Amino acid sequence: MTQALRPDRLRTFVGRIASLVDAAAPEAQLLDAGAAALRELIAHDDWLPDAFAQPDPERYQQFLLHADSAQRFSVVSFVWGPGQATPVHDHTVWGLIGVLRGAEIAQAYRVAPDGALQEHGAAKRLDTGDVDAVSPGIGDIHRVSNAFGDRTSISIHVYGANIGAVSRSVYPAGGGRKRFISGYSNDVLPNIWNVSKESSIS
Ligand SMILES: [Fe+2]
Repeated sequence: MTQALRPDRLRTFVGRIASLVDAAAPEAQLLDAGAAALRELIAHDDWLPDAFAQPDPERYQQFLLHADSAQRFSVVSFVWGPGQATPVHDHTVWGLIGVLRGAEIAQAYRVAPDGALQEHGAAKRLDTGDVDAVSPGIGDIHRVSNAFGDRTSISIHVYGANIGAVSRSVYPAGGGRKRFISGYSNDVLPNIWNVSKESSIS
């Protein structure tokens, strides 16, 4: 990328999500307003540093971009190599998913009264610019895959917790559930706070 990056876009998004969380609005309102903010963030592909956009040949990557100081929310980039997919998993908190590059397929699941895992509705294709939501209230179990077998896709997610530290579940094909804490793929975060440098450029 030859143009200077626009870290202000992620900073603005973080500020908007923090305001929504501060306001303690009902979840449906938070998801609506948060989705609008996420749509604005992913409308431009000029702000994600390359270090947080790198696929790994072995597995999808989950890079932390920002964590709220009280762990009330976190923002991550998910980087899918060609053909990569998550296991069926849940989140236990609200989450918004917006596609920045490429496209993804999201298949929702539910646990039937007898404990069996069932597909819930048809698979959804999310193209660049599309936003989807999850939460225990609206449907929290899904499997997400790169829609492409020959290129990388990237989505930006925001969750109502420090998602890499949340104890949640994956649902193996053989039935039951397994405890899962995802962690993150990175040890350093993008610097969105170098405000004086930004103003000296423009
Ligand atoms: Fe997910």
